[in-house]
Amino acid sequence: MSDLLETRGLTVELPTPSGWVRPVNDVSLRIAEGESLGLVGESGSGKTMLSLALMGLLPPGARVSGEATLAADASPRKLMALSEREWRDVRGGEIAMIFQEPMTSLNPVMRIGAQIEEAIRAHQPKLAVSEVKRKAIDALRRAAIPEPESRAQQFPHQLSGGLRQRAMIAMALAAGPRVLIADEPTTALDVTVQKQILHLLDRLRRELKLGLLFITHDLGVVAQVAERVAVMYAGRIIEEGPARDVLTKPKHPYTQGLLKASPTLRRGALTPIPGVVPQLTALPPGCAFEPRCELRRSDCVTEVPALRAAGENHKARCVLV
Ligand SMILES: Nc1ncnc2c1ncn2[C@@H]1O[C@H](COP(=O)(O)OP(=O)(O)OP(=O)(O)O)[C@@H](O)[C@H]1O
Ligand code: SF4
Ligand SMILES: [Mg+2]
Repeated sequence: MSDLLETRGLTVELPTPSGWVRPVNDVSLRIAEGESLGLVGESGSGKTMLSLALMGLLPPGARVSGEATLAADASPRKLMALSEREWRDVRGGEIAMIFQEPMTSLNPVMRIGAQIEEAIRAHQPKLAVSEVKRKAIDALRRAAIPEPESRAQQFPHQLSGGLRQRAMIAMALAAGPRVLIADEPTTALDVTVQKQILHLLDRLRRELKLGLLFITHDLGVVAQVAERVAVMYAGRIIEEGPARDVLTKPKHPYTQGLLKASPTLRRGALTPIPGVVPQLTALPPGCAFEPRCELRRSDCVTEVPALRAAGENHKARCVLV
């Protein structure tokens, strides 16, 4: 499998009144064609900021270093060097993103079909009107929306939450992107609908050979969709590996803590991780998890631990590994 998307040392810095912070810090990841990578971490760990960097949608004033390479066709693109003009082709055309709340991408006063047609025309302006319409209906059908022709005539508020989520997925994939970033797409849905959407994403990934970056704070969800898992803490990847290994034999105390706190994976009593994620303006000097870690040692505070090999294709950023 060839890599579709690769980041190397990707770092995002943002200005705050108390100085620059790094919500994304030295992140190196790769996603192959047809592969799903689950990105997990508590609120504020930098998951959304990483995806916004990969979509060219960072807040004004952001400083970026490191690399992100998209190899969707024969000529790989260095994403962090794209102009806004080039981003318009890549965004939606090569990398697309879906969000927790479909109404952040759907226009409430425009019919579903017309919105999808607009997304297609943005990338294929020369396509005939009839062809654009056909592609839009195909996109709805592919997202398993029943009676796509009549649904296309409806407004977003006329759809149930699950159907709206499907319509958003249809729109994101309408222009044929190679990479899909799904940022907590099922968090707001009830468990049954959540399962259906996860199945849909899994099927689309396989059918379209998409690279899928699936973001969630829920390890139970990751177990259902991801082949590989990366765990993020205070802007850094602290563990990465095959989903089976990370979820059954986690090597980093933080990942172990997340598992003990997961209502979906853990039967019986849940143990929340004590303490809170540190402020980016006041990170500990060494391991960022040290203030919350029951296994801390004296050398945990001297420097940020490197990612160390913890098994086959499995790495963890902890001195105990
Ligand atoms: N415009 C901004 N300026 C400075 N810091 C910001 C800005 N936007 C977000 N942050 C900080 O960046 C960090 C990462 O935020 P991000 O939204 O990526 O987290 P997340 O992992 O997606 O969390 P959640 O699970 O809640 O969605 C947080 O500490 C947040 O406070
Ligand atoms: S490096 Fe030290 S403080 Fe950090 S997770 Fe490992 S044992 Fe805990
Ligand atoms: Mg987020």
